[in-house]
Amino acid sequence: MNQNEQKQAVAQAAADYVAKNLPRGAVLGVGSGSTVHFFIDALAPLRAHLGGAVASSEAARHWLEAIGVPVVDLNHVDRLAIYVDGADEIDPQLRMIKGGGGALTREKIVAAASDVFVCIADDSKRVERLGRFPLPIEVIPMAARQITCQLAALGGEPHLREGFVTDNGNLILDVCNLTIDDPVAMESALNQIPGVVTCGLFALRPADMLV
Ligand code: 5RP
Repeated sequence: MNQNEQKQAVAQAAADYVAKNLPRGAVLGVGSGSTVHFFIDALAPLRAHLGGAVASSEAARHWLEAIGVPVVDLNHVDRLAIYVDGADEIDPQLRMIKGGGGALTREKIVAAASDVFVCIADDSKRVERLGRFPLPIEVIPMAARQITCQLAALGGEPHLREGFVTDNGNLILDVCNLTIDDPVAMESALNQIPGVVTCGLFALRPADMLV
C-alpha cells in the first residue's frame, strides 16, 4: 500500500469507528491535513448521523461544508465525544508532533475539549522518539525575533515559515534539532515563553487511540 492508500484506509477505519461510537446527533471534532481530508470524504455517508462538526482549521471547515456537514462553533458545545486528527509524528505513548499544516493551536483547543482523541496516521508518522520532524511553534508576530533567540539558546534551529500566516493571524517557527527527552516538560516549558501561542508537541494531552 502506498502512503495515500494508507491515509485512505485509516480514514475509512476512523469513519467506521465514528459510525459505531458517536451517539446519533452528536457533534464530532475534526482535525486538519491531508489524512483528515480523506477522513472527511469518508464521512459523507454519515451526514445524517452527525449533529455537526467542530473544525480545527478554515480548510477543514470548507471541506466539511462541501460534503454538507454543518460546522459548529466550539463555543456552542460543552464537550466532544470524539476528535479525529492526523499527526506529523507519533510515539509509542501516543504523544505527537503536530502543526505541519499550521493548524496546531486550534487542533490543541479541540483536542482538549474532546473525550477520545483518535489519531489517524500512515506508517511514516510512527517514531520511537519525537523530534525528527521540525517542531512547529505558533508565535505572536511581534515576538518572533525574541522567541527565535530563546529557542536557539535551547539548542534548536528555528526557521520562520516563509509566506505563511495561521488562521489566527500569527506566524510559525519550525524548529529543527531540538532534543526532546521529556515531551511533557518540553511542551510546558515552550508554552511558557512570552509570545508563544502554543507549540506543536501534543504530550500533555496525547491521543487515546492510533489508527
Ligand atoms: C496540521 C496537522 C496535521 O494533522 C499533520 O500535519 C498531518 O498532516 P497530513 O495528514 O497531511 O500528513 O497537524 O496542523
